[in-house]
Amino acid sequence: MCGIVAYIGPKDASPFLLEGLQRLEYRGYDSAGVAVVAPATKGSPARLRICRTKGRVADLAAALPARFKGGTGIGHTRWATHGVPSDANAHPHTDNEGRIAVVHNGIIENAEELRAKLTADGAVFRSETDTEVLAHLIAAHRAQGGELEDAVRAALGLVIGTYGIAVLDAEQADRIVVARNGSPIVLGIGEKEMFAASDVSALVRYTRQVVHLEDGELATVRADGFRTFTEDARTVTRQPSTVDWEVGSYDTGGYAHYLLKEIHEQPGAVERTLSGRLDERFATAHLGGLNLDARELREIRRVKILGCGSAYYAGEMGAQLIEELARIPAHSEPASEFRYRNPVIEADTLYVAVSQSGETYDTLAAVQEVKRKGGRVLGVVNTVGSAIARACDGGIYLHAGPEVSVASTKAFTSTVVAFALLALHFGRVHDLSPADGRRIVAALKALPGQIREVLDQQDAVAELAAEYADSQGMMFIGRVRGYPVAREGAQKLKEISYVHAEAYPASELKHGPLALISPELPTVALVPDDELLDKNLTALGEIKAREGRVLAVAHRPIESRLADHCLVVPKSEPELDPLLLNIPLQLLAYHAAVALGRDVDKPRNLAKSVTVE
Ligand code: G6P
Repeated sequence: MCGIVAYIGPKDASPFLLEGLQRLEYRGYDSAGVAVVAPATKGSPARLRICRTKGRVADLAAALPARFKGGTGIGHTRWATHGVPSDANAHPHTDNEGRIAVVHNGIIENAEELRAKLTADGAVFRSETDTEVLAHLIAAHRAQGGELEDAVRAALGLVIGTYGIAVLDAEQADRIVVARNGSPIVLGIGEKEMFAASDVSALVRYTRQVVHLEDGELATVRADGFRTFTEDARTVTRQPSTVDWEVGSYDTGGYAHYLLKEIHEQPGAVERTLSGRLDERFATAHLGGLNLDARELREIRRVKILGCGSAYYAGEMGAQLIEELARIPAHSEPASEFRYRNPVIEADTLYVAVSQSGETYDTLAAVQEVKRKGGRVLGVVNTVGSAIARACDGGIYLHAGPEVSVASTKAFTSTVVAFALLALHFGRVHDLSPADGRRIVAALKALPGQIREVLDQQDAVAELAAEYADSQGMMFIGRVRGYPVAREGAQKLKEISYVHAEAYPASELKHGPLALISPELPTVALVPDDELLDKNLTALGEIKAREGRVLAVAHRPIESRLADHCLVVPKSEPELDPLLLNIPLQLLAYHAAVALGRDVDKPRNLAKSVTVE
């Protein structure tokens, strides 16, 4: 949520800043801004130049004056928390004199208190943001002498909250100071130039050599290098690491949208999640990062899965897999609720945090709550080295590759695959037979090819999507294993197409939602070929009897008496069927959004990584 970029070097900063912001735009896109230090000229000292605007990075690029020159600069793309999206609230923010500029991700919790003190001391606030407090605070400390990094350290010492920041000082244009506490900052090392950003995706075109700051760390970044240090001024040595994702991972690669590309990347993503983890000899999964031996696993009596949005729904599928394969009670709960309800933490419960980004604040807070009470947490996370991954006791990385589109697709699928591996491993430590283990191993290996088969039906799904897109709303129903699929399907549709969508267990239909059924409210029904097939067909009959339209997703064609349309997906093992049933729903949501002319990759009001409460 929100993106930060920074550049220092011999070139003009703005081209990198604008391109970097464009790459980070998926994290927040209601306003954007840049600041550079314009070099001193005869008679006038170096000064900050700032350009900010409500709207997209493209609006910022259009608003940028032609001669916006300077080799030291910072930029920001925003998802509003404090104050409406507006030019005035867009970052960078400055002090009274316009000498210090700050861009910030995160939340300053004691901003009001600091604002009152600073105002009393003469600071003039020009925005409603919490960030502006930082600019005034840093300026106040700079006025007392010392270097920019000392002023930033002193200011951060007074701040309660989370931040990733980059700071410019017109009078010390030979450096940028960055700091991290709960919101990522990465340095990029170039040839006589240095970069910084909140996400490597902004850097990969320029360098593969990066340094991830840890929480509580700052860095002074100069054109020829950097120095990292702690809040109490202790120097720390950070070795650069090499980014292993291809530059192309961050492009749309010829697809119309990131979302479509990511949907089509799923076979490869699943292969990577499975890679090296299937143990055919013992019909189990090998998960090196769990940090739990068989004895410890056997002591676990319950599994509680925590995540937000699609991660929560993937957790519901995960809970189902764990219960079925390991016969251990498992339950998924929104991390955002869990953390606020003073949850009972039990020693024999295994907690599993799910997050694509590894940054979602509510999920991180839930992990911290469990850890504080002595619980054990595993992470199912895509982003290596992210805050949630680091806060957990062990876990499974998805290796799904970067996911840029706000709505999660490939990370969702890879998460469910990771849960299948966990459930298999758990199951084989308990009572899952070798034969059943082999059955699951074989089914997992077949998944990438089966996903390809579903994706081949894209044109048919696109046609149906165009037909259903102008409905006043849609109902999604599924039973037991199908219910989380219905929930994720409804979530995807509403997120990106803004068509109202509700998910219900098929069994609950007659207890209320049947009242909504009419020709104007079509139903997407998950009808897998399993032990509940007859029950599901009965529900379809009930809908058709009320003149409801039905789009079925099934393993074999459904007779036209019960469904108006049917998408047939390949059959896996019953436990893994939900994964494949979900893929057409992603395509359905995508094509409905396209048909309605929506901004597919950047749906209104949302952001990719929600790093605020
Ligand atoms: C946001 C996004 C959702 C995503 C959720 C969890 O709300 O809009 O698409 O599912 O965050 O994100 P995470 O990175 O923790 O999986």
